[in-house]
Amino acid sequence: MTAVTYELIKVCKQSGARLGKLNTPHGTFETPMFMPVGTLATVKTISPEELKEMGAGVILSNTYHLWLRPGEDIVRAAGGLHQFMNWDQGILTDSGGFQVFSLSDLRDITEEGVHFRNHLNGEKLFLTPEKSIAIQNALGSDIMMAFDECPPYPASYDYMKASVERTSRWAERCLKANKKPETQSLFGIVQGGEFEELRRQSARELTSLDFPGYAVGGLSVGEPKDIMNEVLTYTTPLLPDNKPRYLMGVGSPDSLIDGAIRGIDMFDCVLPTRIARNGTCMTSNGRLVIRNAKYARDFGPIDENCDCHVCKTYSRAYIRHLVKANETFGFRLTSYHNLYFLIKLMECVRQAIREDRLLDYREAFFEQYGFNKP
Ligand code: GUN
Ligand code: ZN
Repeated sequence: MTAVTYELIKVCKQSGARLGKLNTPHGTFETPMFMPVGTLATVKTISPEELKEMGAGVILSNTYHLWLRPGEDIVRAAGGLHQFMNWDQGILTDSGGFQVFSLSDLRDITEEGVHFRNHLNGEKLFLTPEKSIAIQNALGSDIMMAFDECPPYPASYDYMKASVERTSRWAERCLKANKKPETQSLFGIVQGGEFEELRRQSARELTSLDFPGYAVGGLSVGEPKDIMNEVLTYTTPLLPDNKPRYLMGVGSPDSLIDGAIRGIDMFDCVLPTRIARNGTCMTSNGRLVIRNAKYARDFGPIDENCDCHVCKTYSRAYIRHLVKANETFGFRLTSYHNLYFLIKLMECVRQAIREDRLLDYREAFFEQYGFNKP
């Protein structure tokens, strides 16, 4: 028995996308879904009450950041991350495997683990598969991620092969280290870059370990979009139909739709909240830069097709004023709208799967968003 299970409801006859249900100890959520990122036990500027109101189901948090501060002991003493941050729905924690590579310098990878320096104070640290799982067990997330290596793009075939094999050995150590498999499910992460043979090897080695779910990692690391789509096209069919599939770190609207079409069930990305904090909004007509002078006297909503609380209540002119004045409330409003936009997009994707018309939906969405323009 595992904590997290997946039920396939139906496959879109037009696109092959999957409609499913993810059952977790903190609720059941429909997939495909987008998971907002709350790196430091908060989705920046947004309260858990607001996340619920906008329909978020699972949020993501980071082992690496919470380990450095406040430290997993404090979170454990609070009763776990759900209690600590007052979030009673799903939580997925990333393992730190990606963050030690993207945030810290002077890292040294050994078979045992990764030596690196704390990006806050330069202190020497060592993270291993066992340590990552011990921290995630202390945090009490519903879904834990295996400690992996996500090499930069591009990496050589030989480097990638050694890395894939090490990631498989680390994945096995992670499984053995999980003290709470009945309440916390560990997902494996398929690596292999743009090399089909290595993706196959990685998927074969990881599926033989029988994880309750699988992620596709090492994408959206600087490669062109068509490479990501090509990798997904041959990788997702290697993963079991009865387990959830999670594409890590991907959150642009086009990639969510194209990922779903290739059989992905879960996505996360800092994109909606990150761009919101410099005043960029996602709308049905493409990106809107709210600082632009043309919105100074525009008293309409961010997106006339959005029914979020922000669009029903506040004008472009007002939000532009707040953002330009660096007022926190302005960033709250753009963050709220952007998260709502992606959560709603996934709801539309699920409805289109239900009605076997996801390719038609994609075409119409891309046309309006502006992806089809030369
Ligand atoms: N976030 C985005 N990509 C990755 C990845 O390849 N591995 C991990 N652990 N996290 C990610
Ligand atoms: Zn809105």
